[in-house]
This record gives sequence, C-alpha cells and structure tokens, in this order.
Amino acid sequence: MAIRRVLRMGHPLLRQVARGLVPAEIGTAEFQALVTDMADTLHDYGGIGLAAPQVGESIRVALIEIRGGPTRYGELAAMPLTVFVNPVIEVLDPVTAGHWEGCLSVPGLRGWVERPQRVRVQYTSDRRERRTLELQGFNATVFQHEFDHLDGHLYLDRMTDLTRLAFEREF
Ligand code: NI
Repeated sequence: MAIRRVLRMGHPLLRQVARGLVPAEIGTAEFQALVTDMADTLHDYGGIGLAAPQVGESIRVALIEIRGGPTRYGELAAMPLTVFVNPVIEVLDPVTAGHWEGCLSVPGLRGWVERPQRVRVQYTSDRRERRTLELQGFNATVFQHEFDHLDGHLYLDRMTDLTRLAFEREF
C-alpha cells in the first residue's frame, strides 16, 4: 500500500483524455496495486472520489466511496468503495441542479456547479463484469465530477458563475 501524491490543477496530465483499459488489463497485479494505492490515497486525503489521472495514471479508472447522510458537500446516498473502469454516463433527464463541489486537485476551493441530476452509468467492475447504475441528486453530480477527470475536465470548467467560487475558509 502507498499513499500517492494527488496532482493539482496546472499539471498537464489532468487535462489529458485518459485511455480506456482492455479486459486483459483489469484485475492484474499491477491493476490491483493501483486500485489499492488509490483507495489509500482517497482515505488519506478524505475525499469521496478519485480518478486515476489525479495520481498520475492516464487511464479510465475511478474510485468512489460515499458514506451517506449529510456531508460537507450536501446530502448523499451511501455507496461502498467501488471501482469504475471505462465508465460511460448517459443523461436521463437534462434538468440541472447546482451543488457546491470541491476537488482534491483544486485544494481549498468550493464552486457552485449545475449538472443533470438523473444519469445512468455503464462501466466494467474490477472483476471485469459489465454493470449499470442509475443515480440521482447529488450522487449524480459526484459521478459526473469524477468521470470528467477521465476526459481532462475539472469542475471549474463547468462553472457558469465565477462569483460562486470561494475559498473553504471563507465559504
Ligand atoms: Ni475532482
């Protein structure tokens, strides 16, 4: 196990489109070592999601773990630590709602972002199983935020009103 350093905004790797994994790459010792490092890193930094590009690996892998209930970000439905490989998001309802988002790659800031609140996610699990999830509300926002990292986007790119960007200490 190892805690990795999370890359911060300005590092070019955060702006790259990450490559998808082929099935043979999923579940290998190298893959499992990366997933373990990402879980350790996520726990150490105290986040709810982490995408592989944030720890310097430009591949389409993300981890999400939601404890549920009221958080500093808002009300969330719980989800155990889950590994998403090659996730694809489909918007089920284009109506958006806003939430305050934060990001381990943009430490110390919070920004108000409007996103669709009903989405379907298709992905491959860490056991190479094809899976589908439907999400709503703030959980839908969390997934869109994490998977945006795989396309080189940060939540700041999604903001339409920069007056609603604040330092946590002033927030
Ligand atoms: Ni982020």
